[in-house]
Amino acid sequence: MLGMGEVLVGSEEIREKVREMGERITEDYAGERLLLVGILRGAVVVLSDLMRCVELPCDIDFMDISSYGSGTSSSGVVRILKDLEEDVAGRHVLIVEDIIDTGLTLSYLKRSLLARKPASLEICTLLTKPSRRQVDLEIKYVGFEVPDVFVVGYGIDYAGSYRNLPEIRALEPEAARA
Ligand code: PRP
Ligand code: MN
Ligand code: MG
Repeated sequence: MLGMGEVLVGSEEIREKVREMGERITEDYAGERLLLVGILRGAVVVLSDLMRCVELPCDIDFMDISSYGSGTSSSGVVRILKDLEEDVAGRHVLIVEDIIDTGLTLSYLKRSLLARKPASLEICTLLTKPSRRQVDLEIKYVGFEVPDVFVVGYGIDYAGSYRNLPEIRALEPEAARA
């Protein structure tokens, strides 16, 4: 596909990692009912794969919190575009993300959800970019660390495109400027 760079994480590797994360979650929350919260829009792909690897009773819900415009770097501006439908008080909540970059989106979200008194609140992300972190964030389940390049695929977009790629790819600089 035009503008696409190298594959950083292949689809089979993702499948295996998501399965592993699902097994760990299944063990860690044994005997509980879980509420999986996907952060729109990037997390829909990992959420839909992960939930099928979690062998527990669970609910799913979504929030839309955006910290990016259409560019490739975080603006630091966090907006709640859509809130949860579920009441999280007393629930075991697991936030599911595609990628954590500066950490600004999740640190904001964590504070806002903790105020609603969940029984527990943890984070699961397929990808993390530790070199870009601006705030300390405890992440319980991490799939892969990626270098500081703009990545797309498996839910992650550039200006709305490439979310449907089955693997994680680097975006070529020419494509990011186009
Ligand atoms: C991306 C990504 C994370 C967030 C991470 O979402 O899916 O949600 O940015 O960035 P941060 O750690 O620097 O806060 P985006 O805001 O682009 O929305 P999208 O999921 O709809 O693409
Ligand atoms: Mn997102
Ligand atoms: Mg985005």
